[in-house]
Amino acid sequence: MTNAEELEFWSSRYRDNNTPWDKGGPHPELLAKLNEGSKEVMAPPSGGRALVPGCGRGWDALALAKQGWNVLAVDLVEALKPQLQPALKKAGGRFKVADALAIDEGPFNLIFEHTFYCALPPEKREQWGEMVNRNLAPDGWLVVLVFPTDRPEIDGGPPWKMTASGVLKSLVGKGFELLEETAVREKSPERAWGESWAILRRKSSP
Ligand SMILES: C[S@@+](CC[C@H](N)C(=O)[O-])C[C@H]1O[C@@H](n2cnc3c(N)ncnc32)[C@H](O)[C@@H]1O
Repeated sequence: MTNAEELEFWSSRYRDNNTPWDKGGPHPELLAKLNEGSKEVMAPPSGGRALVPGCGRGWDALALAKQGWNVLAVDLVEALKPQLQPALKKAGGRFKVADALAIDEGPFNLIFEHTFYCALPPEKREQWGEMVNRNLAPDGWLVVLVFPTDRPEIDGGPPWKMTASGVLKSLVGKGFELLEETAVREKSPERAWGESWAILRRKSSP
């Protein structure tokens, strides 16, 4: 697909309200981690910046902003703006209509990845890795909802099969370590394949 075709594909999904990935609220695992005070999603007391690429309707971005993060949420689809922009502004964040792969507004202390990577054609994974590399601060957290972990590759996508080791491969040479990967606690009936919560950290020096 050309970039114009991708834009039309995603725009039409929102226009037709054909958005089965949309949970109508933050991902339950993110909510659980916020409630537990898990270090990787807690905003530093002095304030921290978080990036949510391919944010869709912005549920996760809003939850992070309410926790104290200064959030930049990015999506290609202009039609998301009238609802999301004011809500995010009120919560302490910002919505930007843009190609998230081209974002260069770091340093961010957290990048929160939820069904953006698996929505990208696999040939763009290297660009995703470059985007993370450009924007994440040393010691920054990369929190990833890894999905669909067990979708057969032959099925194609989106969502394209995704694994934590594949994510690390996209980041090869960029000084990241995978600290933890655990299955999410609440299985969603609408998500037919495996899903896990992965915590990666950028080393202070690669
Ligand atoms: C499967 S949806 C996930 C949305 C959101 N993260 C969620 O979990 O509800 C993928 C999103 O990525 C957006 N997207 C696809 N390619 C993009 C790009 N290059 N830059 C920014 N957003 C993009 C789509 O418009 C869509 O909102």
